[in-house]
Amino acid sequence: MTALSINLNKVALIRNSREGNYPDVVEFARLCIDHGADGITVHPRPDQRHIRPDDVRRLADLVKSNPRSGAAPELEFNIEGNPFAPALGSYPGFIELVEETMPDQCTLVPDGDDQLTSDHGFDLTSSGEALKPIIEKLHSLGMRVSLFMDPDLKQIELAKAVGADRIELYTGPYAAAWGSDQLDAIFQQHLQAAELSTSLGMGVNAGHDLNLHNLGKFATIPNLLEVSIGHAFTVDSLTMGMPQAVQRYKALLV
Ligand code: PXP
Repeated sequence: MTALSINLNKVALIRNSREGNYPDVVEFARLCIDHGADGITVHPRPDQRHIRPDDVRRLADLVKSNPRSGAAPELEFNIEGNPFAPALGSYPGFIELVEETMPDQCTLVPDGDDQLTSDHGFDLTSSGEALKPIIEKLHSLGMRVSLFMDPDLKQIELAKAVGADRIELYTGPYAAAWGSDQLDAIFQQHLQAAELSTSLGMGVNAGHDLNLHNLGKFATIPNLLEVSIGHAFTVDSLTMGMPQAVQRYKALLV
């Protein structure tokens, strides 16, 4: 069964458009969990454009309190972001925030401050050596480490070499190809990358631009452990209500 981790960035974005704390991302997370989400994902950035450091702290407390412990002891908190992001104002730095809040999984992403959203995986030929000690440090703290990757087989091998436990396949191009004659070729690339990752002993996650149309096909990839979904999930919550949105996504993840 593929786990559904709900990314709360867009909920925070709505909150940030006004003073105050409405909607409260922690209350939204609690409802997602109540309705069947398997995990919560956040992507704190130095510019605090959506999730803020205090959100991360409060969400970490919520997930650790395991609000439905009997039903889902595997409830998971995933923090994703650029491991090299330094402190900026009240943002303590990515690794510092991760150390403080101790998520179950840390997904490292090569995003820049000027990017609207993550739009590529790591090039480990250039950044692998710098990532190794960071991955070791996160391991020593007991976290699972996932690397955001394109479906490039050489790069997947390097992910294993630098010590990743999982990869998160960047599904933006897959989603963009939906309905075009490129789709099958792009899907095959992801399938092969996932198979290679599994054969190397790394788990496979996926995320970006997944939605109710394209998720079902992607979820046929064997051993897909987790998807993290934010943008489309938030839009679907507006149109159909959040409980229904959770159920519709979960129904595609068998
Ligand atoms: N994975 C990563 C690394 C991301 O940066 C994002 C967007 O924050 C997602 C998954 C989720 O993408 P979406 O919001 O399009 O569902």
